[in-house]
Amino acid sequence: MDKLLIEGGVRLTGEIGISGAKNAALPLLCAALLTREAVTYTNVPQLNDIDTLLKLLARMGVKVSRDLAAGTVTLDASVLDNPVAPYDLVKTMRASILVLGPLVARCGEARVSLPGGCAIGARPVDQHIKGLQAMGAAVRVEHGDVHATVPRLKGARLFTDMVTVTGTENLMMAACLADGETVIENAAREPEVVDLANCLIGMGARITGAGTDVIRIRGVERLAGTTHRIMPDRIETGTYLCAAAATGGEIRLTNTSSCYLDAVIDKLMDAGCEIVCERDAIGLKAPARLSAVSVRTAPYPAFPTDMQAQFMAINCVASGAAVIRETIFENRFMHAVELQRLGADIRIDGNTAVVQGVSHLQGATVMATDLRASASLVIAGLVAEGETVIERIYHLDRGYERLEDKLTALGARVRRLA
Ligand code: UD1
Repeated sequence: MDKLLIEGGVRLTGEIGISGAKNAALPLLCAALLTREAVTYTNVPQLNDIDTLLKLLARMGVKVSRDLAAGTVTLDASVLDNPVAPYDLVKTMRASILVLGPLVARCGEARVSLPGGCAIGARPVDQHIKGLQAMGAAVRVEHGDVHATVPRLKGARLFTDMVTVTGTENLMMAACLADGETVIENAAREPEVVDLANCLIGMGARITGAGTDVIRIRGVERLAGTTHRIMPDRIETGTYLCAAAATGGEIRLTNTSSCYLDAVIDKLMDAGCEIVCERDAIGLKAPARLSAVSVRTAPYPAFPTDMQAQFMAINCVASGAAVIRETIFENRFMHAVELQRLGADIRIDGNTAVVQGVSHLQGATVMATDLRASASLVIAGLVAEGETVIERIYHLDRGYERLEDKLTALGARVRRLA
């Protein structure tokens, strides 16, 4: 199993490009299931989660053409003879549930293995199911699978009990081919939902309100093909900003935008960083030592849970104490014990962590437990004295494209050990 060896203590400087967003790409690729015509995507990141989804789509009968060098993928779902997502693929990536809505809408039937829990919490999919049932689908959970059937979905008024990102995306996709109007209330406002809506509109869908908490979709008989550029990855952007901030560095990130990152940029400025926002780039200059900043995660546009671990890492070496509250997932502090192995002073009480900054961290062997937890360990390793070895970095390969290359380009001493 691959490990990452980091020699800490280097100030990150220089410029790198940001990749297309994983969390936008996954629902966008699933949207191709809604049409018999080809859909082409550009700015597709090279990530294990994307490989897994493409494998899943291919098993259903979708023709996949990918140009890795160009970062493009074309999907042709003219033949969909197997609307099934089996456990062996779903278990490695919860976002596989995103095929459910499009499959039911297009084929009138779908069998998708239940994703089950994951390291950061139980993560049920009851809201996805409830929404499809409200649209007239008969849904049964049997033998660990969600099995949904319906002659044609009917437009309905949907209200989700909590803000769910993939739930909103699944139901929005399903509603595109439903008979009549669907209104999703309490919808997620994440930029990835807007990116998906824009692609669907390009395919002929009639959607208004994406980016607000009420999305209206008027169903159409069929959707057409299109070409869509995937938005930049705001979490990858935020992660490199944190890495540079923690090391007292100065970097510029291109092919990205500050407009999806207000909450994160605000906190980095509170920590003492200077930030310059350009149209398609962000520059950051960090002080010699950051000031501690408290954060509370909540749905967009508030501070993202996917940046919580990285902010815990930067607070570990900041001056002062920070309080970190996680309100989205119930078990998302697993990185704290690993950060403690590097010398961090963190106390956890339920969904709250109190981080008292220390003057330095010391390298050690630590274990990655989930994608963003791994990113926090990389940041801590970059500032720690001596060598840090991060085990189980397959988590990082799910969501960070060419991580070592990008960090090396910024001057970090990072090596992958097989
Ligand atoms: C998405 C992101 C993930 C991010 C998360 C929250 C993708 C592929 N993943 O995950 O990176 O951390 O949003 O911003 O976009 N819930 C239920 N029942 C449901 C659905 C959700 O109880 O049917 C709960 C979840 O357990 C969680 C909360 O709602 O506590 C929010 O989860 P949700 O927004 O659905 O997360 P994902 O869409 O899975």
